[in-house]
Amino acid sequence: MEFKRISPKDIQGNTFSMFAEDLALVTAGNQKSFNTMTIGWGDFGILWSKPIITVYVSSSRYTKQFMDANDEFTVEFFDKKYTDALMYLGTHSGRNEDKVSNARLTPVFTESGNATFKESRLIIEAKKLYSHEFDANALPEEIIQWYKQRKLGLHTMYIGEIKNVWIKQ
Ligand SMILES: Cc1cc2nc3c(=O)[nH]c(=O)nc-3n(C[C@H](O)[C@H](O)[C@H](O)COP(=O)(O)O)c2cc1C
Repeated sequence: MEFKRISPKDIQGNTFSMFAEDLALVTAGNQKSFNTMTIGWGDFGILWSKPIITVYVSSSRYTKQFMDANDEFTVEFFDKKYTDALMYLGTHSGRNEDKVSNARLTPVFTESGNATFKESRLIIEAKKLYSHEFDANALPEEIIQWYKQRKLGLHTMYIGEIKNVWIKQ
């Protein structure tokens, strides 16, 4: 086995740089059908006394259908040499092409059947606990403008209970 299971407490790194600088993927689905996309937003923490990871997926993303259709999702972190692949997956949609092949990543599947990638340095497997689209009526005007300028659908937050963490051996 190329990956070793670790406790969420043993995840190394700083959340700010892990998401905003290093980038990550969020992936949902199984061997039959899955999709992945690059994320720069996310966080780890504790909620309802459980270890959690939260990701934010805009309604414009094809990945959203997979996040909604599946009970679990995975988040993958990579070494810097995969930056081009991550940028590719963050600028192309799985609606139009087999973008995973085009980004030259290798899908593998967890024991629970969730899609993830062989090239990952760190894999988080999470079970959805809560998801909700941001309420436009509750957002500050500055953020409403942010969405308008980008003509972007509101993000849905997906809070997942961390079930497994694997690091590359
Ligand atoms: C650096 C970077 C960070 C991104 N972060 C997010 C994010 O946190 N949430 C989101 O909804 N989209 C984010 N995106 C955009 C999606 O990755 C992008 O729209 C992707 O092509 C969607 O693919 P899909 O249509 O196959 O789901 C990011 C893109 C890049 C390049």
